Amino acid sequence: EKEWLEPSGGENSRYSGERDLENPLAAVMMGLIYVNPEGVDGKPDPLKTAHDIRITFQRMAMNDEETVALTAGGHTVGKAHGNGDAGILGPEPEGAPIEDQGLGWLNKKSRGVGRNAVTSGIEGAWTPEPTKWDNGYFETLFKYDWELKKSPAGASQWQPVGVQDKDLPPDVEDPSKTINLVMTDADMAMKMDPEYRKISEKFRKDPEYFAETFAKAWFKLTHRDMGPRTRYIGPDAPTEDLIWQDPVPAGNPDFDVAAAKSKVEASGLSVADLVSTAWDSARTFRHSDRRGGANGARIQLSPLKDWEGNEPERLDKVLGVLKPIASETGASLADIIVLAGTVGLEKAIQAAGSSVKVPFTPGRGDATQDMTDEESFAVLEPVHDGFRNWVKRQYVVSAEEMMLDRAQLMGLTAQEMTVLVGGMRVLGTNHGNSSHGLFTDRVGTLSNDFFVNLTDMSYTWKPKSEGEYEIVDRKTGSTKWTASRVDLVFGSNSILRGYSEFYAQDDNKEKFVRDFVAAWTKVMDADR
Ligand code: HEM
Repeated sequence: EKEWLEPSGGENSRYSGERDLENPLAAVMMGLIYVNPEGVDGKPDPLKTAHDIRITFQRMAMNDEETVALTAGGHTVGKAHGNGDAGILGPEPEGAPIEDQGLGWLNKKSRGVGRNAVTSGIEGAWTPEPTKWDNGYFETLFKYDWELKKSPAGASQWQPVGVQDKDLPPDVEDPSKTINLVMTDADMAMKMDPEYRKISEKFRKDPEYFAETFAKAWFKLTHRDMGPRTRYIGPDAPTEDLIWQDPVPAGNPDFDVAAAKSKVEASGLSVADLVSTAWDSARTFRHSDRRGGANGARIQLSPLKDWEGNEPERLDKVLGVLKPIASETGASLADIIVLAGTVGLEKAIQAAGSSVKVPFTPGRGDATQDMTDEESFAVLEPVHDGFRNWVKRQYVVSAEEMMLDRAQLMGLTAQEMTVLVGGMRVLGTNHGNSSHGLFTDRVGTLSNDFFVNLTDMSYTWKPKSEGEYEIVDRKTGSTKWTASRVDLVFGSNSILRGYSEFYAQDDNKEKFVRDFVAAWTKVMDADR
């Protein structure tokens, strides 16, 4: 994006159609955290602003009640700053000279603080006592009619009609003077939008309920990216389970792992079934907010069990075999799914002539459907997975870039990504049994064949159709294998090729297995 505050219809606008905000963005334009306080595209209209606020806060997983509580609660304290000319502000933080030390929009022509502060350009405070937590926001919002005015900085803002002196907030520098009460277009939406209004009226009548709802929503806003409750420390951490924390009950770390392994081995499931299911259960993990992952076995619950990326039919079959093993051994299903991956891998490692063991740490728990907020899990749905050579449909972004995005979210390095893709291909874990990238004649053996054949100069690589390639024998001209962009990027990108050649080396077969196992274990344990 190039333009701050680009209005809709502009080249860099985040909107299309009937005010559709590009997903997954939440802020309406670059430079704002939520919506334009002066109205959509700077034109005041509280009902239109209400639409923008609702989308923005929904994308932060906030419902209407939480939205009203947060906006009103936030604006119960502090003020807006627009008492001067916004044109005299310096450049934004990234454009500012080095001596500004990361501060931006500095006002060097006047004092720039206190009475002279200009930030949003809106001027005034929302409540008569802006340094105190009280119900002043709703009291003034409903007590007065509000009319549209301009601030000294020229911003559109709402001011009370016939305001009583006793309701005017004090000046920031001289408490014997007063300043304006003010509402932004977003605050007016809390009164004008019918749904928001009902909530605002309720909060006005019941200040305690308002305070409690604000406290909970504030805690959610500021802790949502911390991950499961086990990561909270200190006496202030709440003891109750909150649905947005994706709760997972404690599991049983003391079951007989060897016995469970034998049962999985005897189950008749293939290496590909075992490894793919374990992978699918773990791959939802996001380092960004520590959501998803194998713990909880939510892959058996809605909506995960029906995601196309999880191959619902096959998943149902595999879970049908693994669930009884979990109950017979007293293990959680989450543990058995991961252990099944371990069993599959060890079989494939033995077939490759190696005796490397795959570490397994028990103790995962199983979440129930009640503990699972379906809407909030829907956003974790994988629509691509380069590790399983799959994209749900064609996107503007290339398949290899999407793989990189997933690897980054999972916290994997380029080398870990490389070794995992190369290994998973030869295990036959492609989504929908596709044969792209299966550069081996012994599927199910954890060999370095993917890298050996990818870098073998006896072949050439020919585009076949959109996103599909053929690996052709130079001498005979016959097609030996097929490949996707994700497969070929490990030969075309210089850094990934470096890793591919390294793993293709004859004297690195064992190193390949060890590195694969280390990366695999990292994925399985990422959420713990
Ligand atoms: C609905 C979307 C919202 C809009 C459009 C909005 C807009 C604004 C604007 C224009 C200002 C004045 C900034 C300045 O001139 O310095 C402001 C200040 C403030 N906002 Fe919001 N806000 C929104 C939601 C929130 C939320 C959710 C919170 C916190 C939970 C919050 C907390 C505050 C606080 C504490 C201030 C005062 C800052 C100070 O005293 O310097 N706002 N907001």
